[in-house]
Amino acid sequence: MPIAPVSPTGLFQVGITIPQQAQSNLLAVTLDVDNDVPIGPLLAELGETIRALTAGTDPRLLGLSPGDLTVTIGIGPRLVRMADPALPGTTDLPQFPHEQITPQARGGDLLIQICATDAVVPPITAAALLTQAGNRTQERWRQSAHRGSTVPLGQGRTAPRNQFGFIDGIVGPHTPAQQQRNLWLPGPPPVANATIAVLRRMELDLPRFAALPVATQEAIFGRRRTGEPLSGGTITTDPDLGAKTPDGRYLIPADAHTRRAHSTAVGVGLMLRRSYSIAEPTPGLLFISFQNDLQTFTDTLTHMTDDDALLPFTTTTASATFLILPGFDQAHPLGATLFHR
Ligand code: HEM
Repeated sequence: MPIAPVSPTGLFQVGITIPQQAQSNLLAVTLDVDNDVPIGPLLAELGETIRALTAGTDPRLLGLSPGDLTVTIGIGPRLVRMADPALPGTTDLPQFPHEQITPQARGGDLLIQICATDAVVPPITAAALLTQAGNRTQERWRQSAHRGSTVPLGQGRTAPRNQFGFIDGIVGPHTPAQQQRNLWLPGPPPVANATIAVLRRMELDLPRFAALPVATQEAIFGRRRTGEPLSGGTITTDPDLGAKTPDGRYLIPADAHTRRAHSTAVGVGLMLRRSYSIAEPTPGLLFISFQNDLQTFTDTLTHMTDDDALLPFTTTTASATFLILPGFDQAHPLGATLFHR
């Protein structure tokens, strides 16, 4: 059956909430932009190339059908500062515990996030976009990632299982009102309808986690392997952090990931998590979140740091944040609200 194409143009970039069910293959490429390169023309050209690639008219696709290809472009804090140091998106991610990150795998000026159902499409798309950028950019790090079988959550939504076997992507800003509040930037005008992405590549200690009894694994997440919170209800029921056993113990343990990362426990808005599993260089997770305030991420990870039972099973090996540019179309080139063409 042919796969429905996804139009790349509109108010917001695609690859975040569109398509609603994230494609099974992702390739993230981070790049640095050489000094003195005019940023406006580079971004506008990338936007035009994205339109040609998704329309299937770019010869660099070598005759392949783009299918549901989406490309999402973000710029790193250094470039946002060049546009205007007062804008959101100028702050780099700080260092956190449980990191083993080489300087090459931290930060970057440009993010190209490519998603498609056809696994051959993302690397060919990346090659076309890198050819277009030419010698104006240098690649920093790249990561391909995949989603396996998904679980239905109702209302057309699904979420995949990660390599610890747990369903990942249940809680988030899923209604339009929540997305207005927590996902998209309302302004100032250059960044209206932009958002902020965080990418963290994590190695997961699969053998140590798999050796634990299922009840211990569920206590670490604060959810059943089938997704329901340990406080009861269905998979989409909000975790009840106050619920206790008759003898006064929390149903969702004090160090459970669901408690430590819960937005009300942290005191922040919701983040849209759209993570993928990775096999190389070591099995793990490419954590990807989108939020309209970087502090939603940094406060959550800070709140998790000392007490989250999940974190000791993870080692983060790459980390970056990007301002995901507002949407674009033929009349409004990619990046034009921040840089002159
Ligand atoms: C960068 C570190 C991480 C952050 C900031 C983070 C953030 C979050 C947030 C905000 C939630 C929603 C909490 C709730 O209300 O239930 C959550 C839940 C969850 N996270 Fe994480 N997480 C991180 C790392 C991980 C890792 C390493 C895994 C798995 C290996 C993971 C798997 C899950 C699962 C299974 C849930 C529960 C279901 C769901 O709401 O999707 N997270 N995480």
